[in-house]
Amino acid sequence: MFVTSTHAHITTWGIALILFIIALILHAKGNKVGFKVTQMILRVFYILVIITGGLLFIHNQSINPAMYGVKLLGGLLVLGFMEMILIRLSKGKRTGMFWILFIIFLLIVLYLGLKLPLGFHPFY
Ligand code: HEM
Repeated sequence: MFVTSTHAHITTWGIALILFIIALILHAKGNKVGFKVTQMILRVFYILVIITGGLLFIHNQSINPAMYGVKLLGGLLVLGFMEMILIRLSKGKRTGMFWILFIIFLLIVLYLGLKLPLGFHPFY
């Protein structure tokens, strides 16, 4: 199931992005407890994204090791920037640079994921 199907991976990063947005809304509304709880659940989903992506990587990277390597690194950075944005928001620090990096890397990772051989192929 996890070897060639990308469904579990898409589900986990999809839920992670939704939880990220919920955490941002809760922070904007000043709901500190809700924000903290959402952040904790989101961290579990980071791990699930890494496990599902990692399994896809282990079983398929020999198809194109360089591109799969960039996809893995990009995916980890996207998760890292999400975590940095939320931590810095909760500490009242500036997040501008991390937002720019998050958006750039999210676009790269979405493009690479869809371009690589498994799953959906909207670009060709
Ligand atoms: C928020 C973070 C991430 C996003 C938005 C994301 C997005 C995607 C997308 C859109 C696909 C293509 C799915 C399809 O065509 O059916 C994909 C596939 C994949 N992802 Fe991720 N991913 C993320 C994190 C990760 C991480 C952390 C890893 C590795 C640990 C990873 C490894 C992979 C691999 C190996 C594939 C299969 C590529 C293929 O052959 O199509 N991803 N991802």
